Amino acid sequence: MCGISGIISNTSVSRRLLDSIQNLEYRGYDSCGMAVINSHGPIVRKNVGHVAEVAEKELFTSLDGHVGIAHTRWATHGGVTPVNAHPHTSCDGTIAVVHNGIISNYGELKARLMKKGHIFRSETDTEVIPHLIEEYRKGGLPLERAFVAALNELDGSFAVAMVAAEEPWGIFCGKHESPLIIGLGQNENYLGSDFNAFIEYTKNAVVMEDGEYAIITHESYAVKRMSNGEPVNKQVMPIEWDAEMSKKGGFPHYMLKEIHEQPRTVIKALAIDENAIINLARRMIEARRANVTGVGTTYYVAQLGQYYLASEAGVSAPAVSADEFLEGSAFGPEDFILAVSQSGETYDTLRVLREAKRRKTRTAAMVNVIGSTMARLVDDVVMQGSGPEICVISTKAALAQMIILIRIAIEAGVLTGRITPADRKQKIKQLEALPDIISGFLNEYSGFVHTLAQRTAHHHNWLYLGRGRYYPIALEAALKVKEVAYLHAEGMPAGFLKHGTIALIDEKLKSLVFVPTEKEEELYNMTMSSIEEIKARGGSVTAFHSSRTLQRSKLLDDQLMLPAAPPLVAPLVSLIAAQLYSYFAAVTLGKNVDKPRALAKSVTVA
Ligand code: G6P
Repeated sequence: MCGISGIISNTSVSRRLLDSIQNLEYRGYDSCGMAVINSHGPIVRKNVGHVAEVAEKELFTSLDGHVGIAHTRWATHGGVTPVNAHPHTSCDGTIAVVHNGIISNYGELKARLMKKGHIFRSETDTEVIPHLIEEYRKGGLPLERAFVAALNELDGSFAVAMVAAEEPWGIFCGKHESPLIIGLGQNENYLGSDFNAFIEYTKNAVVMEDGEYAIITHESYAVKRMSNGEPVNKQVMPIEWDAEMSKKGGFPHYMLKEIHEQPRTVIKALAIDENAIINLARRMIEARRANVTGVGTTYYVAQLGQYYLASEAGVSAPAVSADEFLEGSAFGPEDFILAVSQSGETYDTLRVLREAKRRKTRTAAMVNVIGSTMARLVDDVVMQGSGPEICVISTKAALAQMIILIRIAIEAGVLTGRITPADRKQKIKQLEALPDIISGFLNEYSGFVHTLAQRTAHHHNWLYLGRGRYYPIALEAALKVKEVAYLHAEGMPAGFLKHGTIALIDEKLKSLVFVPTEKEEELYNMTMSSIEEIKARGGSVTAFHSSRTLQRSKLLDDQLMLPAAPPLVAPLVSLIAAQLYSYFAAVTLGKNVDKPRALAKSVTVA
């Protein structure tokens, strides 16, 4: 989604504001802009394109001033044009505003303001904000009260930051349902949509809650309630991530770096306190109905969790995509919802959790971002500790979530008596062996995956097939290659193929099949039947597998032989292979790996 940044200092801020929105660029990269206050008021520069291009074209760093706000946009209302880029200003240009979120009543506000003579320049919902503040100023309210009065009129979601000519020493900001965090430095303070906005400058942060606004100067900050202007006492939160973790560290792309960080993220996920895991397992079992939810990748993570919970523990916890949850599921006070979210800010998932709160349903979340809205909203939170994930495409965070769900499934199995303590020990050992298997795979197999991608990435239509635990893997693998390489891949249960889609099979449609280990005999054999069915119709099959028998088989047109791994973790090895394949496919096709078109890392709108 959009990224907001602000710096209030007693030295020039434009250079650091630029760095800051570059660090936030994964939140949106259609266009960007900056407003810096000088003796004439806010000077606004903005344009379409990536931050580096716009910064060069618009000479961002030549702006001189000690207070500024900046924005990187992921368009919702209004096309990707220079005028629609933020900041937006009041008619007289003295008030400049950046915004993340969607203002649902902007149509009626805009009509009202236009009637009063306000001239709108953009098609955005955001532009109503500076005009509304200006209108309240004209009506005689002092700036702070005009700012709050305007925010109180907005419906929908927003994180807003404002600079104004008449109070050039500070930034005004406020939020409802979109994240906003204040960073506290030495003789300067910061504002950001997330920690990455200012992690290079400070590790002390204050997380703003819905309905709060703040006035920040270089040496102070005051947080107050939008409803009555009363001050709120805030806790300062230390940020555990460091700036180095957010750098590429020699890799050409964040995606590759983050794929390579996976052995470490698994170790981190395995180090999460056992009691927190057992607690969630217990909630799953004790609830009348349990569901796991997420969207995009995290929905597929939830689906994988569903399979492990069913098979390891005999617990039924259907995964439901958060964007459809409220319309398709019934739940109440005796039920339990576990949300999975890397960012902890995703609108669709938050919508489910907020409604669950209202219905007194017990909630928990597994999130990666410390201090995120979800982490603060739910009854129980598990921080996955994967470190910053900068590439828009989720890899390491998703794997860590899968590990945590498998741990929950194992503990649930112990609680339901399906898993003996000795079995549990064995299974944990298998999880603990995974980091070495992944490291080995990445070191020894990357070359094979690269050549496979070079050979096959020009095929535009794919079926990604898997059975059992390999089905959610096929779904997630298909999403990866769609997101980053823009190849069409339809994830499907291998057994479902024959019920319709098989009619599409011909020599042009490629199938990528995720084959279970030979130890999972029934699943393996059934997957082999699907391969036979495709081949019988003249289809082409690429398989990811670890079977010596299959390696020699004439059935496969292409293959990637994976390292041997116990059935408990083998699907995860297939996933890592698919992540790497998607990466190399994108590189082969010359795509923008870390910032694919139309995507944003954290989607905070409906
Ligand atoms: C966006 C991203 C996806 C991500 C999904 C869920 O759509 O583009 O890559 O999987 O949000 O994000 P979350 O932060 O909730 O895991």
